[in-house]
Amino acid sequence: MKNPTRLASGILGVNAGQLIRVAKEGAGAVTMKSIGPREREGHKNPTVIEWEHGLINAVGLPTPGYKNCDDEFEELKELKKIKVPLIASIYGTKWEEFIEVAQYVASKKPNAIELDISCPNTEWEGTQFACDPKLSGKIVSEVKNACGKIPLIAKLTPAANSPVEVGVACEEAGADAICAGNTMPGMIINADAMRPVLAFKKGGISGPALKPINLKITYELYEKIKIPIIGEGGIGSGNDALEYIMAGATLCGIGSAVWQSGTGVFKKTCNEMDAWMKKNGFSNLEKLRGIAHEK
Ligand SMILES: Cc1cc2nc3c(=O)[nH]c(=O)nc-3n(C[C@H](O)[C@H](O)[C@H](O)COP(=O)(O)O)c2cc1C
Repeated sequence: MKNPTRLASGILGVNAGQLIRVAKEGAGAVTMKSIGPREREGHKNPTVIEWEHGLINAVGLPTPGYKNCDDEFEELKELKKIKVPLIASIYGTKWEEFIEVAQYVASKKPNAIELDISCPNTEWEGTQFACDPKLSGKIVSEVKNACGKIPLIAKLTPAANSPVEVGVACEEAGADAICAGNTMPGMIINADAMRPVLAFKKGGISGPALKPINLKITYELYEKIKIPIIGEGGIGSGNDALEYIMAGATLCGIGSAVWQSGTGVFKKTCNEMDAWMKKNGFSNLEKLRGIAHEK
């Protein structure tokens, strides 16, 4: 990768044209919107609302279904020419569906597959796979068996009792990297309207409000696992990204900040990281990774 940022799943990644644009404008890697087993409309509008500390969304995982993604993967071949890695993201409503979708996606040869085991739309309505270490490990090992060599990223939820235990279970099951992590469940009510702001009422909190939460998970994971960690949640500046690197992240995912300040955020983040490193005498990120753990 040209730099340690990646576009998070679900933000501008809903079609190939947008992903290619983000790649050209400076993202180190791009992640597709999560692809599911069959066509799904998602929730009614409003699905994404900006508030004073970030975003809240209940998009409801709209997807054309993997059987309708051939054209998109075809168009995305352009990413190979500009040498920006493509991460495909997948979800299922039960573990068997992860395998079905993963087999299709693997045949399209993305650089990695991210398992959105933190999606809220499971067969148990609102329960996330990534709340359960055993089930998360099972999904990782089954997909690994079915897809062979393609690197797998397991995406955690901050809503788990112990996201770290889930991360450890995923590493033991064969995951190649862990993303920490997805949005935090929450809700916002408009007092004047006396109603929740989202049509679905509850949703996922992302952006600045999420940073201290996922940063702590990243920090704790770094002490327990050996595979790389993608820090994600509230990154919108070089300082935010460096905090995640210092906690132990290898890569920094950016989502809400793209929504809020545009695709220039990748270059801005990298430039700010560079400037901080020059000012403080660091020539590479290796020396900074996990530095916050030092006594
Ligand atoms: C509008 C929206 C849609 C999202 N869709 C997905 C998705 O399809 N799959 C997924 O794994 N995460 C999805 N996410 C979560 C983001 O990928 C990211 O993990 C989260 O927002 C935290 O990063 P951020 O604070 O930089 O936004 C979505 C987030 C938002 C705001």
